[in-house]
Amino acid sequence: MLWIHPVFQALVTIGAFYVFYLGLQRFRSAHLGHRVPFDWKSHVFYGRLVIIGWLLGLVMGKIAVNQELGTMGIFADHNQGAMVMTPLMLIAYVSGTYMDRHKKKRKGLPLVHAGNNVLLLGVALYQMYTGWIVVTNFLLN
Ligand code: HEM
Ligand code: HEM
Repeated sequence: MLWIHPVFQALVTIGAFYVFYLGLQRFRSAHLGHRVPFDWKSHVFYGRLVIIGWLLGLVMGKIAVNQELGTMGIFADHNQGAMVMTPLMLIAYVSGTYMDRHKKKRKGLPLVHAGNNVLLLGVALYQMYTGWIVVTNFLLN
């Protein structure tokens, strides 16, 4: 049970970099004038999958800690990282869904979406780092 969350979240985080790679093609064509195609459907599909995956993973982490230790919020840095990710995930999902439903040429909202999601990826990397410390100190000990 304790291994499900770290393995699952690590895989989802790798998937997030693919979603970012797809989004980057949009950024290049919209802002840098590069003539590159943007796989809109895949970006939206896998983007949703990543956000839902991270949220499910968050709940699995909470349940695992609660079952094992009878309490939550033990791994302070890692837990705080998840609390920072939660609003960023909501902004990513809501802004992405809005732009998908109401397609038009725009500059501002895609930039907000991109900035928010670069931050989100950064915190996810921080989660990999703090999560790895939990793995070595708690799971492997
Ligand atoms: C980890 C998750 C995600 C990352 C890293 C990401 C990243 C990006 C980036 C870098 C862009 C280019 C923005 C620009 O041109 O300034 C973009 C555009 C876009 N993203 Fe995402 N995204 C994510 C999740 C999502 C989700 C969940 C959805 C939809 C439900 C979505 C829908 C869109 C759409 C529709 C655009 C094109 C907007 C436009 O140019 O009009 N994204 N994304
Ligand atoms: C990417 C690599 C990650 C690793 C290696 C990792 C590792 C861990 C480990 C070992 C635990 C203890 C429970 C268990 O073993 O199931 C844990 C708990 C937890 N993780 Fe992660 N995690 C990662 C990513 C994430 C992400 C992306 C989130 C948030 C979206 C997250 C949120 C949490 C939360 C909320 C807990 C419970 C903390 C507590 O109540 O003290 N983790 N994580």
